[in-house]
Amino acid sequence: MPSVAQLRQPSPSMLPPAKRAKMHSNTEPDSHVAATDGAAAAPEIEAVAADSTSYNDVPALPDNAHHHVDDLDPIPACTSTLTFQNGIFLAPMVRIGTLPTRLLSLEYGADLVWGPEIVDRAIIGCERKVNPTTGVVEYLKEHKQIFSCHPIERPYLVYQLGSANPDLAYQAIKIITQADDVAAVDLNCGCPKPFSTHAGMGANMLSTPVLLCNTLKAMRRAAPPHVAVTCKIRLLPTQEATIELVDKIVRTGAIECLTVHCRTKDMRPREPALLHRLREIVDHVNTLAAEMGRTIPVVCNGDVWDAVNAPRIKELTGVTSTMVARGAEANPSCFRPQGSLSIPDVIAPKWVRYSLALNNPIGNTKYCMAQLAFKPAESVAKDAGTKAKPMNKKQLSALRTGIAQAKTHEELATVFKIDVDQVRALSVDDEILGDLRTALSQRVSHRSASAGGFDGERLGAVLNNASGGASQQGGQGVGDGHASGDGQKRATDNSPQPEWKQLLATSVSDNIKDEKSILYYAFSTVEPPSSVHDAAKPHVRYVVHRGFVNEQRDGDRPGGIAPHNASFGSSPCLLTTTDVRTPKVQQLTSQSSLRAHGPDGSRGGECEIAWWIESAQLQFRISGTVHVLPTPGHPLRSLFPFERLSPPRAPGSEAIDAFDWDKERKRIFDKLNPGLLASFCRPTPGSAHPNADRLQQAKPKDDTSSPWPLELPSPGKEENEEQKRMLEQSEKNFALVVVEPYKVDLVNLADDTRTVYELQPGECAATGRWTARRVVP
Ligand SMILES: Cc1cc2nc3c(=O)[nH]c(=O)nc-3n(C[C@H](O)[C@H](O)[C@H](O)COP(=O)(O)O)c2cc1C
Repeated sequence: MPSVAQLRQPSPSMLPPAKRAKMHSNTEPDSHVAATDGAAAAPEIEAVAADSTSYNDVPALPDNAHHHVDDLDPIPACTSTLTFQNGIFLAPMVRIGTLPTRLLSLEYGADLVWGPEIVDRAIIGCERKVNPTTGVVEYLKEHKQIFSCHPIERPYLVYQLGSANPDLAYQAIKIITQADDVAAVDLNCGCPKPFSTHAGMGANMLSTPVLLCNTLKAMRRAAPPHVAVTCKIRLLPTQEATIELVDKIVRTGAIECLTVHCRTKDMRPREPALLHRLREIVDHVNTLAAEMGRTIPVVCNGDVWDAVNAPRIKELTGVTSTMVARGAEANPSCFRPQGSLSIPDVIAPKWVRYSLALNNPIGNTKYCMAQLAFKPAESVAKDAGTKAKPMNKKQLSALRTGIAQAKTHEELATVFKIDVDQVRALSVDDEILGDLRTALSQRVSHRSASAGGFDGERLGAVLNNASGGASQQGGQGVGDGHASGDGQKRATDNSPQPEWKQLLATSVSDNIKDEKSILYYAFSTVEPPSSVHDAAKPHVRYVVHRGFVNEQRDGDRPGGIAPHNASFGSSPCLLTTTDVRTPKVQQLTSQSSLRAHGPDGSRGGECEIAWWIESAQLQFRISGTVHVLPTPGHPLRSLFPFERLSPPRAPGSEAIDAFDWDKERKRIFDKLNPGLLASFCRPTPGSAHPNADRLQQAKPKDDTSSPWPLELPSPGKEENEEQKRMLEQSEKNFALVVVEPYKVDLVNLADDTRTVYELQPGECAATGRWTARRVVP
């Protein structure tokens, strides 16, 4: 063990464990841990081969992980906003917990979904590929799919790792979090199967607590701060030993949630779970977490079976969340509070559709479908009433035989009378994932309504806490919620504005006639690293300011600006546009900052605007998160925070309809000039030009044989069907970009002053309050 002096040495806690182990080379390894590590170092071909549907022959990695770290360094804090309370979750299940099972479970009420356990050596070395048509993300090794997921499940997806080696765990988590595909990562410390335990993994980790804790800490170090780390264990034979272990795990500070499968390692699944033992563990974790100033929910797993059963188990054990494995294996609609749906009529056909549309490996599909409960009792929905007639055993047996004999998706589809061509022709986002999307958005809006959510009364009051309050040019009184002063008139006259926005709007409207480039600003985004060896890269380009949300020019209004939808005011969120096919869009939606992830499941990117207004000698640097709103049906649409970005309701407005973002998107699209309208129906910007070899010095407008139109008429003014079709294509590729500012650094070169405006913590830009402080210019 390290000495106290060693412990006090400052240590680079963000380093991977192997590197830190070298720094601690004087540290005596824990003999018990070292022995386990030796076991874990052997190649684990069988361990990964356990899921024979997705990976078989994973080559052993070079074993460079001999060093054991008795990991006592402080670990980075977690900023995840994921809540593990008050939920019902899909349990991790090897082979079963693949993409279609998870999507079905989410659709029917699972709040979070765990993927199947995948061991460290299997995921390390995988290449990440995105299918542009389906949106499915695949982690591939030697052309075999090791793991797949879809952006729609990202806010709810927990990746489960099998590991008994902190160094490999670190590398594995770096891989799976490289592009922000999962919301949390879990360590499997409960699997009693030989493929897991023989390598020291799974339930064997329960008897190597130091290794278990070190592995969790390595995972915490590897994961980005907004990705939660969790752990799943089984009970130990005695209550005392279990509590001792749980105590150690919680004290690592590495986990946000602990799942307890209420069976011991030696118990078989058919033996009833020891649910009565959980309450004491829950109490212990609650007390300990409170002492640490944290909340660490304990999730009950074992014989929960379905949502109907869950409340009873919560009452018995004191947990607020439960986790279901076999219930969901038999019927993924077990998460429905009203009871599950018919397997042959609803669930099995849906399984086939998901599998077909998302290219799930046929072997896995057959395996999972064979586990579905083709039983008379499961052939009618539980809430169908007494008139519904169950299928008889013969009919059900025919379906089971059909699944067993099918060799292709086509044959499987025939069993359930599904037209393969028709399914393949459907839009994945709109039609295949439509029901899921609806279910998720209903849940999100239900949750945000019950949590207080958007509150129109929090109109954007500005706190001028450091610069003399309302006395500043056009500023507002502290917290009064209403703007005053001349500058206010420059913005819409029905909602208050932060001071910086008034200054910006005034500078633009006063100078637009003389300063032609005034509407262009430099817009920077960040490309996330493509691998652990890569670094984040900044990208900057000029874009055109398309106004603030819900603002339009109106010469008759004071300040020349009016709200487009009079039921709403305007907000400081800025609008620009992009082509949804460009790489920029990936950068806009794949960032990992806490800010970029909304509690509503939305996801954006970090950005900065640098805007120089020459006539006023003002430089605005606007830091914000950026959100992309494509047309309905596009996979990225689910990441847009519709409610959070909505402008505040206009004072006195009695309208109850939500802000119509599609109208807003269309309004900006319709205003584009003919050249820009045409630009959106070209091939993807930046892709190879089909006429590249003969264009040479030709200017675009000289290209009389242009393979695409150079101009298109405004929507509504099309002269023929071809133009209509092209405009539709343009609109499909067009996306509205909304910048949600959180900090504005304003340098006034004319006055030699500099002011930093910041959004109040926890408030959203559309309606929140801002502070202002003077800094040295
Ligand atoms: C088919 C199957 C595969 C499983 N695979 C995993 C796994 O990958 N990781 C894990 O932690 N537990 C795994 N388990 C255990 C379950 O997650 C769960 O702890 C156990 O089945 C008890 O829950 P239940 O009573 O709801 O089935 C698996 C269980 C089943 C039935």
